[in-house]
Amino acid sequence: MKKNTPSTTLPTSVPVCRRASGAVFLDRDGTLIHDRGWLRDPADVIFYEETFEALRALQRFAELFIVTNQSGIASGLLTAREAENVNRFIGRRLEEERITIRAVYTCPHRREDRCGCIKPNPYFAIQAAADFDISPEHSFAVGDHPHDVEFARRFGGKGIYVLTGHGARHRADLPDAAGGCVASSMHDAVRLILGCQRPVPSCYIGAGTAAGLLQRGEVVVIPTETVYGMAASALDANAVRRVFELKRRPALDPLIVHIADAGDLGAVAAGVPPAARKLAEAFWPGPLTLVLPKRKCIPNLVTSGRDTVAVRVPEHPIARKIIREAGCPIAAPSANRFGSVSPTCARHVFNQFDTDLKFIVDGGPCAVGVESTILGFWDNRVWLLRPGGIALELIEAIAGPVSVYRNSGPTDIRAPGTMPRHYAPSTPLFLLNATDPVVLKRNTGLIVFGPDAPVGGAEVENLSPAGDPAEAAANLYAAMRRLDAAGLDRIIARRLPDEGLGRTVNDRLQRAAARPVS
Ligand code: TXA
Ligand code: MG
Repeated sequence: MKKNTPSTTLPTSVPVCRRASGAVFLDRDGTLIHDRGWLRDPADVIFYEETFEALRALQRFAELFIVTNQSGIASGLLTAREAENVNRFIGRRLEEERITIRAVYTCPHRREDRCGCIKPNPYFAIQAAADFDISPEHSFAVGDHPHDVEFARRFGGKGIYVLTGHGARHRADLPDAAGGCVASSMHDAVRLILGCQRPVPSCYIGAGTAAGLLQRGEVVVIPTETVYGMAASALDANAVRRVFELKRRPALDPLIVHIADAGDLGAVAAGVPPAARKLAEAFWPGPLTLVLPKRKCIPNLVTSGRDTVAVRVPEHPIARKIIREAGCPIAAPSANRFGSVSPTCARHVFNQFDTDLKFIVDGGPCAVGVESTILGFWDNRVWLLRPGGIALELIEAIAGPVSVYRNSGPTDIRAPGTMPRHYAPSTPLFLLNATDPVVLKRNTGLIVFGPDAPVGGAEVENLSPAGDPAEAAANLYAAMRRLDAAGLDRIIARRLPDEGLGRTVNDRLQRAAARPVS
């Protein structure tokens, strides 16, 4: 360091961290202002009478955002600039009324464009969580379309449906589950929100401070698109040791190292076979882990003494932001106690660890919901070590035939840590074949799949009534946890057809059903 340069020294024992806050994501047209078609001119904006007072009450406990679908832009009915002018005007008017909107998010696409940002996709809520230290789980969405309610469900919060705007007209399309959250107006919506808000636990920290904590050697739970990870700097053996201790994980089970971009691979891996490179190009960022020769900088503790390292570039925007800002590779196993069901939302982690974990970043429910696919490379072949979030068929389309590795036990040199029993609830789970009839028994939970499965009931979890294996994967662990908490004698699960992500779901069900070794 140069002489006499001002510098700030931060105490290492008291990390700087900001607690996450709750937010309310407000729809614009039909919710805050009258819905008068595509608004091109600020002069056409008419606020509902009660908007100002309602928002002033809301902002006392939550950050406010506006999220609006303006598909008229893609359809050529208004320009992006016109939409922005209207948004700016609304922001200014609210500011005059002493109401602060942290950001206005606008999706300009049409539904048929299949963009990621149109509601009900949770995209903008997750962006707000990343940029403004929001906890989606403690947040709400308010709007006059069933998509607004679905938007909230997908970011892990609560949706409030208002009967203003198109609300009355679309009410019949509202899912039954949303029944209790219908408000006659914004005023009523505020009353409902204040009645069911919960305090944010002190361990829920904003994404903005997670990187600094990781640099200081702290363990921080971070969201990824597969499952939540218990993260530590992969270069810090002490921090990694704490991860093993917190998880009660055997030291012979190595960790996956996460990097922000495929371009950073050279920092952790000593060589990349051509097949691995092609697969990384096709699927990163995403739920794919590649086992590659390791660089010396990775401590032996991370790889359980192996000369290989498992590497992945996660896709979740919060994970990428945190890893990029931390500036180091991040070791992260799933954030559960060893052997139990992996967490797919922040609350799962909090419920299991309570005060044992000091820092959790909430990034909403995991979109993929099962762990990454792990591949190894030797003898000029590609080996499937663990089925996961990318289907085998997709891997084979890029890399040609893949050999499925059969591991010989927990200490297996090639695929350590793939135990016959894993991802298991504490209630005994029994597995049926995909076509076996399901017989309903007393005090029994059911995990089923597809349109022909038994319907409804507190103890029936249909992983995807539409029969979509990706949706089933996303719902699997939460369904297992709900049934496990219901005090049942047993859980019966029916296998999915053995193709695509169905194979991954079956793998997890199989391990959950394996009897504990006594
Ligand atoms: O989706 C995922 O992969 C999640 C998220 C957090 O990224 N992580 C995850 O980590 O599932 P974990 O600890 O539950 O599983 C890591 C597994 C090990 O059990 C082992 O099977 C494999 O990765 N693994 C790690 N290093 C390896 C190595 N050097 N050689 C072979 N397998 C390895
Ligand atoms: Mg609306």
